[in-house]
Amino acid sequence: MLIDTYGRVATDLRVSLTDRCNLRCTYCMPEEGLQWLAKPDLLTDDEIVRLITVAVRDLGVEEVRFTGGEPLLRPGLVGIVERVAALAPRPQMSLTTNGIGLERTAAALRAAGLDRVNVSLDTLRPDVFTALTRRKRHADVLHGLEAARAAGLTPVKVNTVLMPGLNDDEAPDLLAWAVAHDYELRFIEQMPLDAQHGWQRDGMITAGDILDSLRTRFTLTPEGQDERGSAPAERWVVDGGPHRVGVIGSVTRPFCRACDRTRLTADGQIRTCLFATEETDLRAALRSGAPDAEIARIWKLAMWGKKAGSGLDDPAFLQPERPMSAIGG
Ligand code: GTP
Ligand code: 5AD
Ligand code: SF4
Repeated sequence: MLIDTYGRVATDLRVSLTDRCNLRCTYCMPEEGLQWLAKPDLLTDDEIVRLITVAVRDLGVEEVRFTGGEPLLRPGLVGIVERVAALAPRPQMSLTTNGIGLERTAAALRAAGLDRVNVSLDTLRPDVFTALTRRKRHADVLHGLEAARAAGLTPVKVNTVLMPGLNDDEAPDLLAWAVAHDYELRFIEQMPLDAQHGWQRDGMITAGDILDSLRTRFTLTPEGQDERGSAPAERWVVDGGPHRVGVIGSVTRPFCRACDRTRLTADGQIRTCLFATEETDLRAALRSGAPDAEIARIWKLAMWGKKAGSGLDDPAFLQPERPMSAIGG
């Protein structure tokens, strides 16, 4: 088991498959992109499957989420999903994507064994999408969402970040749209994980702001946490049900005490937290021929060092060196 000194058990593994992305969301990375990881530094498909195997078979991991950057940019994704689906015990498998290319891949991913997807979409307005992401791909995302539902990658969740002056007036419209299309919408507070270090607490839209805005048009009844009790979204029943809306208040309503996550970066580093400032190099162990038992030992030791929380409220808080796109959200 991956247990830490606060008694939390990590049963949820988030695997970043690439740090690259085909969008340039303003709250994430600059127009010119970032210095991408070099190919030899990336874990190979075989290395990824081997690490997931150790996590699932020896360390009690029950759910595997593939993230990026944009994970659909990883050529071997379908093959990786297929091999992970063949593990015993078979973990739950989900994908967090910006939805571009999902129209093409949803059916194959489902056939390979993927259970569900979370798709990022911040706006219903094509022009605002272009301003936010610096790419004209709004229609691709909508088509990707439809394809995901048609393929049975359900429940399809939609992740939305609200940015002041851009899309912060859209919360009720987004919820009405999500209810009509049977997507589970979740609003995410903007976190200080952008490559440009432009985040400011005073400038962010808070969970409280979002709920106030939604209540102008909907009746929200608290449902408590997500089904697993540990997921980051606080959920609300919309207008008596059956639809739900979630708010992920990582900054103003942190859920660190219930955190059940361990993370693997595309270059094979274990991160115990989104906001961790240290990493543990599993790739070096792997490439020096360490047996599975040694990999498991290193992973357990890393998780034992997991901090109590994000440290966001600490005046000495330091943003991690790695931006969100290289951590995997
Ligand atoms: P499910 O609810 O199980 O579908 O997963 P999820 O909400 O964890 O996954 P997703 O990848 O869609 O993440 C949604 C948002 O939650 C992203 O902005 C993540 O950065 C944020 N998030 C995910 N894990 C953590 C975490 O460990 N800590 C914090 N503070 N935020 C997280
Ligand atoms: N703060 C909050 N959410 C972010 N995301 C990307 N960068 C940030 C940030 N700085 C969101 C994406 C996607 C999810 C994985 O994380 O929009 O929905
Ligand atoms: Fe877990 Fe760190 Fe996220 Fe808190 S901030 S929930 S400790 S990963």
